[in-house]
Amino acid sequence: MFSTFESLRKALEKRKQNSSFRSLVIENKLIDFCSTDYLGFAKSDELKKSILEEIKNNFSFSGNLSGSSGSRLMRGNYLYTENLENKIANHHKAEASLIFNSGYDANVGFFSCVPQRGDIILHDELIHVSSREGMRLSFALKFSFRHNDVNHLEEKLKKFKGKNIFVSVESVYSMDGDFSPLEAISGLCEKYQAHLVVDEAHATGLYGPNGAGRIVELGLEKKTFAVIHTFGKALGCHGGAIAGSRLLREFLINFSHSFIYSTAIPPINILALNCAYDLLTKSNDKIYKINYLINLFKDKIKMINGIEIIPGFSPIQCLIIPGNERVKNAANKIRESGYDVRAVLSPTVPGGRERLRVCLHSFNSPEELEGLVLSIKKNVLS
Ligand SMILES: Cc1ncc(COP(=O)(O)O)c(C=O)c1O
Repeated sequence: MFSTFESLRKALEKRKQNSSFRSLVIENKLIDFCSTDYLGFAKSDELKKSILEEIKNNFSFSGNLSGSSGSRLMRGNYLYTENLENKIANHHKAEASLIFNSGYDANVGFFSCVPQRGDIILHDELIHVSSREGMRLSFALKFSFRHNDVNHLEEKLKKFKGKNIFVSVESVYSMDGDFSPLEAISGLCEKYQAHLVVDEAHATGLYGPNGAGRIVELGLEKKTFAVIHTFGKALGCHGGAIAGSRLLREFLINFSHSFIYSTAIPPINILALNCAYDLLTKSNDKIYKINYLINLFKDKIKMINGIEIIPGFSPIQCLIIPGNERVKNAANKIRESGYDVRAVLSPTVPGGRERLRVCLHSFNSPEELEGLVLSIKKNVLS
């Protein structure tokens, strides 16, 4: 019989053998082509300055700054937080919003309590692990449909017609960087009276008016049951929120365990987020720039024969380099040439579909992009 330590060691050994062992990498000074700080907010001097001013001029929170001192239902709720939730709801054209400690918590909190026993969840096969884990906690039955395949989704919707159905998708998929066909999926949800739930983690701040997201960009806000926004990506902060109806907000406050049983996000984060939303309304030039760079990168990379690129117009651009060892070697060599890119290994993605995940940012220059493409050409094809 194995002791616990032996079985842990064995699992790690297996990872080493198939080159999927993960380890933490310390920050570096390489050119950033891997963070999700798409608009540079996390390092923005303008944002830092406005946060400091906000602390000086509008400080409330009963004197707390670093900690909220309780869950939202205990002592961790503040007028400032509720005002911010209204601001977030307005920004994303929703009736209401509720802040969670992370996007992960928001997805777990939603799926674990909203779909009930007897309900059906239909999710894209590439949905983020945080949504899956919430679904695992739910008593509803769950089924996947093939990635972005609206016909496959419709087959499933037909099969479960008459049931209470939730359809879960991401507007931009985190590991492939492609868009969900949201208009078609929303149309199907209307036809079969299903509830559409959209994770905008990699779209919040980047699409639609003032970065309101793809749901607002496409005018689907009234047809969407819930939208998950995350703040650790384009907003350069931390946390997540669910936007939807007032009824949904009240339900989550009463039943969502990741909301109820966790210390509320600290005031310092709430202040920062408020300032980040203000900055977002002045950042259309950055949104424009990142879209310019996405097109530029796609134009340059398509000139290189022999590299498969997952099609998509998001800041996440993925180059398929099959095999954990091969993709890790390529990423290491590109990093040695000065550009910070990371490999995504199996089992995070299916074996044979391992990839370099290049994240573009408004602060990258066209020259940096050119250098990266040359390095990819040299190090991937050699
Ligand atoms: C699609 C998607 N949803 C949710 C999350 C979780 O968000 P957070 O990092 O705020 O926990 C992520 C994080 O990578 C993500 O990619």
